[in-house]
Amino acid sequence: MKPLLKWAGGKRHIADILISSFPKDWNKQTYFEPFIGGAALFFQLSPSSAIISDVNKRLIGFYKHVREDLDELLNEIRDISIEFDNCPDDSKKRYFLEIREQYNSSDVDSLESASKLFALNKLCFNGLYRENSKGGFNVPFGQKKKFPNIEFDDFKNANLALQNAEVKVSDFETTVKSAKSGDFVYFDPPYIPIDATSSFTSYHADGFSLDDQKRLAALLVELKNRNIKALCSNSDTELTRGIYSESNMKVIQAPRMVSAKSSGRGLINELVISNY
Ligand SMILES: C[S@@+](CC[C@H](N)C(=O)[O-])C[C@H]1O[C@@H](n2cnc3c(N)ncnc32)[C@H](O)[C@@H]1O
Repeated sequence: MKPLLKWAGGKRHIADILISSFPKDWNKQTYFEPFIGGAALFFQLSPSSAIISDVNKRLIGFYKHVREDLDELLNEIRDISIEFDNCPDDSKKRYFLEIREQYNSSDVDSLESASKLFALNKLCFNGLYRENSKGGFNVPFGQKKKFPNIEFDDFKNANLALQNAEVKVSDFETTVKSAKSGDFVYFDPPYIPIDATSSFTSYHADGFSLDDQKRLAALLVELKNRNIKALCSNSDTELTRGIYSESNMKVIQAPRMVSAKSSGRGLINELVISNY
């Protein structure tokens, strides 16, 4: 199935390559995915037992509503899509901005936040998720004339996959505290930028600092000592290779998806880092 949301760093296009690097018994116990984002791997795998998390409260709220009250969520999304399609073309942007404002002032766990997160993801520029310093979603209108098709089968499959999952707002390190010997973890953090160098120590992107990268590298080693296999995706840079040097690395090729510039598209090397 396709992920429900478009997400920066989404793994849909390289899901098969990544899964082929998983240990054979990855689904024997609990599957952990602490940077869930668009959840491309999780939805493709539909594990029999899982713990998934992210620091984005509204994203986690969305998945909880997909799991717990799918029909109500779909009704709200359908209403938004009809209203959007009924707007004259010169009012569509205004309608988008209204939805964005209502979303930003809604409760993070509410059905309203979940339905509007989905609508904004479909209608905003390039399906990006970006917040201003006050935590408000601020991606501009993507100039769509029609609300994209709502894929009911994908929602149904997501609802089923989520029945076997604990879903929480948490930092990645806290999420894996409960992991036991024999469990498996897939980490997909915000990447180290490809132009970062080892002298560039103050780097910070998507709220994920160089210290967070080091914390994650150390966690891979700690998990190995606890007999928990873990795989991690990241960019292929000197800095990444240095920080994660205590783990094993393999290079794979991935499509470069998020850049809006056509020159930014094409294939790019990525690292698959494992502690096994
Ligand atoms: C590269 S995206 C994951 C993409 C996902 N694998 C997919 O297929 O769409 C990284 C995610 O990590 C989350 N994140 C950032 N810092 C985090 C932290 N300290 N702990 C847990 N999640 C974090 C972001 O909110 C974002 O959703």
